[in-house]
Amino acid sequence: MKVDGIPYRTIWLAKDGWSVEIIDQTRLPHWFETVRLTTLAEAAHAIKAMLVRGAPLIGATGAYGLCLAARADATDTGLRQAAAMLIATRPTAVNLKWAVDDVLARLLPLPESGRVAAAYARAAEIADDDVATCRGIGDHGAKLISAAGRKKPTGAAVNVLTHCNAGWLATVDWGTALAPIYRAHDAGIPLHVWVDETRPRNQGASLTAWELGRHGVPHTVIADNAGGLLMQKGEVDLCIVGTDRTTAEGDVCNKIGTYLKALAAQDNGVPFYVALPHSTIDWNMAKGSDVPIEMRGPEEVTHLTGATADGGIATIRVTPEGSAAANPAFDVTPARLVTALITERGVCAASRAGLLSLYPERAR
Ligand code: MRU
Repeated sequence: MKVDGIPYRTIWLAKDGWSVEIIDQTRLPHWFETVRLTTLAEAAHAIKAMLVRGAPLIGATGAYGLCLAARADATDTGLRQAAAMLIATRPTAVNLKWAVDDVLARLLPLPESGRVAAAYARAAEIADDDVATCRGIGDHGAKLISAAGRKKPTGAAVNVLTHCNAGWLATVDWGTALAPIYRAHDAGIPLHVWVDETRPRNQGASLTAWELGRHGVPHTVIADNAGGLLMQKGEVDLCIVGTDRTTAEGDVCNKIGTYLKALAAQDNGVPFYVALPHSTIDWNMAKGSDVPIEMRGPEEVTHLTGATADGGIATIRVTPEGSAAANPAFDVTPARLVTALITERGVCAASRAGLLSLYPERAR
């Protein structure tokens, strides 16, 4: 996607051909800054501190993190330790483990002298695959938006509600949940997006609103609690969210608050779609209740960060001193509440049979 007319991915190799550049998402929407990663420790920090975030992007960053690790120590022990360190940074999104394990498995059979080049080649493939995959999700999902538009009066905008940030900032490009929105918008389908603010870190208010605005997509930021009322009033035609891990049975783990939106959608007859790339499916896990839920620090709940009138960035406390706060970062939406999954291969039921209809090679 473009920022001020310049095409960007969210992760790329620097001009030196080996260090890795990212957009520092902790500075958005107020400042657009890039950061150069040169070591395994810097890559791990970027994932853990959420300079990069979003399931597919942390996967790609993990893959490049292993490249940086291999430059310093390409022994079996060194690579295994590096992989474990990267995977431990964030537990919920399966893309991270998938990408790191994938690169590691390709390196270990090679002689040490060939491992660095092979790591960079595979990391580039993972990044390129994510771009093509997300574009495919966009094409399939745009058809659902178009179909919703045909049920409305001519020229009326389709109202889509989304949660968190599952846009191009969360992937290498295009996004998952936002890819159908970009493809539909680019095709001239009138649409408007309700953007859940997504407390506590506000990925909706700060990141989704920023990228939709840069692309010219009409949108309105709402408090997380507003979605139910909007659905009751008929002001949401469909919901599209992303996912950090979808189980083989079709349960969907995504940013905290997703489950409540799915419940409200079910109660109001609003279709609830989940967009995901193949790398987000955990074929080894059947039940959503087994997904490890990341617990983040209480300061994300007790404090807010934003722009001040003089152009600075400030962090303020919103809770009384001494009040405890808990911060589970993800929840699980049972498959029964999901209307359909949107993947790069098409749209399917949120069930094992549905997923296998698109990924038959996974049938055992
Ligand atoms: O904690 P985050 O910001 O990494 O969480 C991101 C999400 O939950 C996204 O919705 C998700 O990764 C889904 S698809 C890009």
